[in-house]
Amino acid sequence: MDLSITVNGIKFPNPFVLGSGPPGTNARVLAKSFDAGWGGAVAKTVSLESAKVVNVVPRYGKLRSRSTGEVIGFENIELISDRPIEVWLEEFREIKKEYPNNVLIASIMEEYEKSRWQELTKMVQDTGVDAFELNFSCPHGMTERKMGSEMGEHPDLTEEVTSWVTEVSKIPVWAKMTPNITNIREPAVAAVRGGAVGISAINTILSVIGVDLETLRPMPTVEGHAVPGGYSCQAVRPIALRMVSQLALGLPEEISISGIGGIENSHDALQFFLLGASTVQICTGVMLQGVKMVDELNAGVTKFMTDKGFESVEEMVGKSLPYFSTHMDLVQKMKAAKRSKAGEASRDNEWAQKDITEKTAELTSN
Ligand SMILES: Cc1cc2nc3c(=O)[nH]c(=O)nc-3n(C[C@H](O)[C@H](O)[C@H](O)COP(=O)(O)O)c2cc1C
Repeated sequence: MDLSITVNGIKFPNPFVLGSGPPGTNARVLAKSFDAGWGGAVAKTVSLESAKVVNVVPRYGKLRSRSTGEVIGFENIELISDRPIEVWLEEFREIKKEYPNNVLIASIMEEYEKSRWQELTKMVQDTGVDAFELNFSCPHGMTERKMGSEMGEHPDLTEEVTSWVTEVSKIPVWAKMTPNITNIREPAVAAVRGGAVGISAINTILSVIGVDLETLRPMPTVEGHAVPGGYSCQAVRPIALRMVSQLALGLPEEISISGIGGIENSHDALQFFLLGASTVQICTGVMLQGVKMVDELNAGVTKFMTDKGFESVEEMVGKSLPYFSTHMDLVQKMKAAKRSKAGEASRDNEWAQKDITEKTAELTSN
C-alpha cells in the first residue's frame, strides 16, 4: 500500500514523522530513523546561541498505571537543543544529501527580535531543509527568556513572529501550537495570518508530575527544587485529539495539520488522520519504544486502509469530522430516534394484536 502523502507541496514517503525532541537530537539518530522507515522528522529545536541553553539532570518524570506500571504520562523540563547552530547547519546539509526523499523539518526558536528570527531562518533554509516548524510552544525554561509558549500564548506575537519568518522563508512554514491556552484556534489563525501554511499541535501541557512524599519535593527534583514541566505521552492524547479536531474545523481547508500528542501505535495515529491531521508526529512514544515502532505504524495503517477501502492516506483525512455536532442537536437526534423507535414498537403491537386478514384489508387500496 502506498502511504505517501503530499502536504504543502512536500511529498512525505509516509505520514509518520519524528516529533521534535530527543528522537531528533543529531544527524546520527535522524539517519537511523530514516533507515528504520520514518517518512519525515522534525529535528530538535535550534536557536542562534546554544551557549544560553543549559539542561539539568534529572529532567524527566513518569506517571505510571497503578495496576500495570505502564508509563501513561511523561513530564520533561528539557530545553531546546544545546548544540551549536554551526554544527546543526552542517548536519542538516548532510542529512538532506544522504536522504533526499525523506522530509527534514527544522524546528526553530529565537528571542523576540526580528533580525534574530530572520537570520536563523535564512541560514537554516540555505542547508536545503524541506520546511520550518516554528516552536511557539515549549512551556518551560525558554519562557523565562520570553521564548516558546510565551509567544504562542499571545496571538498577536504569534502572528508577528510568523510574518518575520515567512517574509524571508522560501519553504513552507508550520507553526507549533501550545495547548496551554483557552482556545487553540486563536493563535493558529494568527499564525496563518502571519503566513504559516501548516499547524502542528500539540506541544506539551504544563504539569507537575508528582510530589515525593519522603522529601516533600515536587518532581523531577534538581538539587532539592523543581519547576513545572511539559506533559506528554498517552495521557494527553484525548486533549490533543480535541484540539486537532477544533483546528481542522476552524482553519481554512488549505492549511495542513500535523497531529501530535500521545501517539504510540497505528490505532492512535489513525484517529488523528480521521480528525484532520495529514501527518502525525511522535516524540515520547519513540523515546519509550524506539524507532522500530514505525513498522507497526506502517502495518496497522495499511491493514486499516485495506479493511475500510481507503486508497490513500489523504482520503482518510478528516473523515470523522462531519460527525461532530452541538449538544442541542444531539438531544434532538436522540428524541427523534426515540420517537421512531416508539413508532416501530406501536406498529409491531398492532400487527400482533390484529388478525392478519384484518391488517391485509387495511393496507389494500381496492
Ligand atoms: C523530552 C522532550 C523534549 C522535547 N523537546 C522539544 C523541542 O525541542 N521542540 C519542540 O517543538 N517540542 C519538543 N517536545 C515536544 C514534543 O515534540 C511533542 O510535541 C510532545 O511531547 C507531545 O507528543 P508526544 O506525546 O508524542 O511526546 C519535547 C518533548 C519531550 C518529551
